[in-house]
Amino acid sequence: MSRRTQIYEGKAKILYEGPEPGTLVQYFKDDATAFNAQKKATLDGKGVLNNRISEFVMMRLEEIGIPTHFIKRLNMREQLIKKVEIIPLEVICRNVAAGTMSKRLGIEEGEKLPRSIVEFCLKRDDLGDPLIAEEHIYAFGWATESELDEIIAMTLRINDYLMGMFGGVGINLIDFKIEFGRLQTEDGHKVILADEISPDSCRLWDRETNKKLDKDRFRRDLGDVTEAYTEVATRLGILKESQNSSAPNLSVVSNDE
Ligand code: CDP
Repeated sequence: MSRRTQIYEGKAKILYEGPEPGTLVQYFKDDATAFNAQKKATLDGKGVLNNRISEFVMMRLEEIGIPTHFIKRLNMREQLIKKVEIIPLEVICRNVAAGTMSKRLGIEEGEKLPRSIVEFCLKRDDLGDPLIAEEHIYAFGWATESELDEIIAMTLRINDYLMGMFGGVGINLIDFKIEFGRLQTEDGHKVILADEISPDSCRLWDRETNKKLDKDRFRRDLGDVTEAYTEVATRLGILKESQNSSAPNLSVVSNDE
């Protein structure tokens, strides 16, 4: 394998320079972290699953007109993406109370929210990604008002689509976190969806049993983390049905080049 220039290493992914200008290669690691990286582990196969799930979700979103950074999957752990300037916001969309919202507002986990809620956190690991208001975003210039309008509209559209997509395979989308970036264009730039959408960044509960099929299995020591991610991939039709959950078979349905 040729040596590539590493651009950035995050908690669960590495970015390398891409083959052409304006592209990057996004590599999905098996590393899992929680509570601002105070808790760490390596989960065999997680990177492969997240690469596949994020590819699937980004392709579906492109189909409904959401611009994303995804170009194509390169192999089991890597995808080619468009290079963007990441907007330093974690955009969280919630349908059901869970996690920090439950703690902060004293709403029991699992309580359906009166409407979908979009929240913003500042992407700053050293500060623990603090919750911020729109006013902070404008005052400090993290995004403009028109960029934020687009971000909110895209987030709600993504939420609607993903609720239906997961709902169709018996999974409730409780909440999720997404990130956006600025893509350079001939006449300026446009805001597109970046990063990943996977069980690392969503809360996904089985509709019948409320079983958690996401990273809370790791955060809360519930066990069977990759088995749960495999379940999500299988239900979405990404992995073959004949999985033995005690030994995840990461073979794919089609077009693994
Ligand atoms: O996950 P945690 O309880 O710390 O925070 P949250 O604000 O309740 O998270 C809402 C959603 O965003 C969950 O689906 C998290 O998995 C996701 N999230 C994320 O992917 N990355 C973060 N840095 C924070 C939240």
